[in-house]
Amino acid sequence: METKSKAKIYPIVLYGDQVLEKTAEPVTVFDAELRTLLDDMFESMYAAHGVGLAAPQIGIPKRIAVVDCSFKERPAERIVLVNPEIIGQEGKQSSGEGCLSLPDFRENVTRANRVTVRAQDGHGKEFEMTGEGLLARAFLHETDHLNGKLFISHVSALKRDLIKRKIKKLVKAGEWRYERPL
Ligand code: NI
Repeated sequence: METKSKAKIYPIVLYGDQVLEKTAEPVTVFDAELRTLLDDMFESMYAAHGVGLAAPQIGIPKRIAVVDCSFKERPAERIVLVNPEIIGQEGKQSSGEGCLSLPDFRENVTRANRVTVRAQDGHGKEFEMTGEGLLARAFLHETDHLNGKLFISHVSALKRDLIKRKIKKLVKAGEWRYERPL
């Protein structure tokens, strides 16, 4: 019987680590190593109970993200985004948004309601996909990550400062850890 090798579950990098605020590098090699990384990213995302994960969030500064708004329910909704680019945005939606790199913080963020992304899959094949609602939000949130941008950049300065102050306290209390300070 063949045994499938176990996925590697990466720890999630938290806000305060510089890898999250840098522009990630484009992917140029589409090999088995990339596809293993993509599988590991899905499993790491599920382990962290997320619906989206960008490579910088596991400390890898590359333009790679995975999304599954169905959270394992519908395999067709497992979406790989390599070198994604937002090519269309329409309408508006406003709802609570969070991020695995900012655990327990949730803020209302207004974003486009219908978003088209152009990206490559794990084999380098280019595709375009349009998502609405949560999927549109995920396309924007994950692409932001690859540009060194976190969702708190979309909230008011007042709210952002409050979040930063709370995180500073958590850092002092030893409850918030990162390896590469900003
Ligand atoms: Ni995020």
